[in-house]
Amino acid sequence: MTEKTDRRQFIRLCGRTAAAMAVARAAGHRVIAPAFALENPPRVRLVKADGSPLKAKDLPLHANWIFHYPYHSSPALLIKLDDPAPPTEVEDKDGKAYTWPGGVGPDKNIVAYAAICAHALSYDSKETAFLNYRRERNQMTGHGRVITCCAHASVYDPAAGAKVLAGPAKFPLAAVLLEHRAETDELFAVGLIGSELYGEFFKAYRKELRKAFGRSRYKKMVEGDVVAMPVKEYSEDAIKC
Ligand code: FES
Repeated sequence: MTEKTDRRQFIRLCGRTAAAMAVARAAGHRVIAPAFALENPPRVRLVKADGSPLKAKDLPLHANWIFHYPYHSSPALLIKLDDPAPPTEVEDKDGKAYTWPGGVGPDKNIVAYAAICAHALSYDSKETAFLNYRRERNQMTGHGRVITCCAHASVYDPAAGAKVLAGPAKFPLAAVLLEHRAETDELFAVGLIGSELYGEFFKAYRKELRKAFGRSRYKKMVEGDVVAMPVKEYSEDAIKC
C-alpha cells in the first residue's frame, strides 16, 4: 500500500462512518466529523473461536478481547466497560477535534480501539500483548479501568475515545466503529476513525507481519466473520504493568 493509497482510503467519510456519527447526533451530542476515516471499510461480524456469533451478552464485563480489523494483521481491543460510554470529543495526531461516537450494545458500554500504540507503534501480537485493558489500577501509573501500553506506560481512557491520560503518547488510539444488531445481539466492526498509523505500522513490522499473517495477506482487509477472543488466550504474554 502506497502513501497515496493510504491517504485516499482515509480521506472521505463513508456511509457506515456517517451512520455511526448520526447515532451520536440523534442522541443530542455535538458531532465533529473526523479528519480521517477509513473509506469503504469492511463490515465484519465478530464471532467466537468456534465460529458462533459473539453476542453482546456473551462478552464478560471488563473483557479484554482481541480481534483483527481493518486488516488481517492489525489488532484491535474489544472491551465491555461497566458504565455506558457517551460520545466524546477528542483530538487526532494533527490536533483536529473529532467526535468518538461512544459505546454500543444494550448498555452502550462496548467499545473497540486499535491495539497499536499511538506513541511508538508497540502492538498486540501472539507473542506479546503490550496494550491491555485492566479494571485494576496499574502499578506504573495508578490508573484503573484504562488501556495501558506497557512499552513506555501510555495510558488511554477507553470510556472517552481512548483519550491519553498519561505517558508519552500524544493522541488517542484509532477507534474501531462497532454496530450492535438488537434483534440478534450480534456485534459488527464497521469502520475506523481517528489517527491513521497503518502505513507506518506495516513499514515498521513488515517482516514479522508477513511471517505471521502471510506475504501479501497481512495488509489485505478482513471480510466476512472475524474471530474475537480474550487477549490472554491470543497472546503468550499479555503484559501487566
Ligand atoms: S509504544 Fe506504547 S507507550 Fe511507547
